[in-house]
Amino acid sequence: MNPVRIGLLGLGTVGSGTVNVLARNGAEIARRAGREIRVVHAAARDRRPCPVEGIRLTTDPFEVVDDPQVEVVVELIGGQDPARRLVLRAIENGKHVVTANKALIAAHGNEIFAAARNRGVIVAFEAAVAGGIPIIKTIREGLAANRIEWLAGIINGTGNFILTEMRDRGREFADVLAEAQRLGYAEADPSFDVQGIDAAHKLTILAAIAFGIPLQYDKVYTEGIAGMTRSDVCYAEELGYRIKHLGIARRTDRGVELRVHPTLIPERRLIANVDGVMNAILVKGDAVGSTMYYGAGAGSEPTASAVVADIVDVVRMLTADPNNRVPHLAFQPDQLSDVPILPMQEVETAYYLRMQARDELGVLADVTRILADVGISIEAMIQKEPAADSNVVSVILLTHRVLERNMNKAIAQIEALDSINGEVMRIRVEQLNQDWK
Ligand code: HSE
Repeated sequence: MNPVRIGLLGLGTVGSGTVNVLARNGAEIARRAGREIRVVHAAARDRRPCPVEGIRLTTDPFEVVDDPQVEVVVELIGGQDPARRLVLRAIENGKHVVTANKALIAAHGNEIFAAARNRGVIVAFEAAVAGGIPIIKTIREGLAANRIEWLAGIINGTGNFILTEMRDRGREFADVLAEAQRLGYAEADPSFDVQGIDAAHKLTILAAIAFGIPLQYDKVYTEGIAGMTRSDVCYAEELGYRIKHLGIARRTDRGVELRVHPTLIPERRLIANVDGVMNAILVKGDAVGSTMYYGAGAGSEPTASAVVADIVDVVRMLTADPNNRVPHLAFQPDQLSDVPILPMQEVETAYYLRMQARDELGVLADVTRILADVGISIEAMIQKEPAADSNVVSVILLTHRVLERNMNKAIAQIEALDSINGEVMRIRVEQLNQDWK
């Protein structure tokens, strides 16, 4: 049988990884796919020597999507534009698409999948979330029997690497970020990693396939790790917790929670021990219980592993009836639910609070009264000695679960106390145990 002809957009970290994996494992991959997979045309930002013989190179990606020879377009250039135009043009030209572009799918996936359905082509996006971990396939197919209750994941390797290095080696934030950039883990704009935008893109996709809802990136509550200090990391450890930057999607009776923020989790949880650039996603299904998926969330060949698996899937499906394929967003397109996404104010969670208090009579009484007045109960408390020549002490509180709206009210009142200096640091706390519904 003829080889399947691939057009590749982007020859950066993931693009060159994909070419290398296809070249190294070509025979094994062909045994799985049933046909040889051959990259015939590739677009790179600049003119460079071709990594493999026989690939036509161009600097114009539209040449690739318009090439009548190309059957499957693999989009690895990232960002929303021109990626959106290229993918829509490839679909219009009747080509299947494989993409690793989380920003594109999170922001324009609804439009892209509708166009693909109309044209009868596949858009595969396993590499968009958690690099090499086959989490899309797992949720969409492996867990298809379940009502997914919640998922929580470390889905940005750069952020996890920074938090791990701060904890283990006391390194500075900027220094660790520079290293993640050098290693090719960080986004082209690293503020996407640090501000949680990259994780919010990935969470949008996971939530859609887990709950059968449209992609709604604009409704994700997003908080990054830029405000994390080494003191918070240490106090969390004293209390038996680790700080991880999590993406959480959870069904409640009132709607769906979609949130990305630093989170204290008990140090004995497996996911609390996922360190460095690694990713992990905990998925709770009503039938299967809690399951966890772990692996490299970024990097050249780990991400290429997901890209090539998608190409193999597309090749296997080339002859299948378009109406009987696995739906893009796991659920049949006319079965998507319009369940509301909860604003952060309506989310219930526990909190870690750190404040700088003057070492005076009655300060703690004032703070606990404010918390009690809005129905917040305290689970644990630490008060640190003032530093030499200072009368300011750090007070750290862990609270029980409370609505974010009530916590906002309490924090505003605490910050207004004369005896409290500066802002109250707040980090949300989740137990992530089996009983969380
Ligand atoms: N910047 C991303 C990360 C790359 O650090 O996880 C993979 O999406």
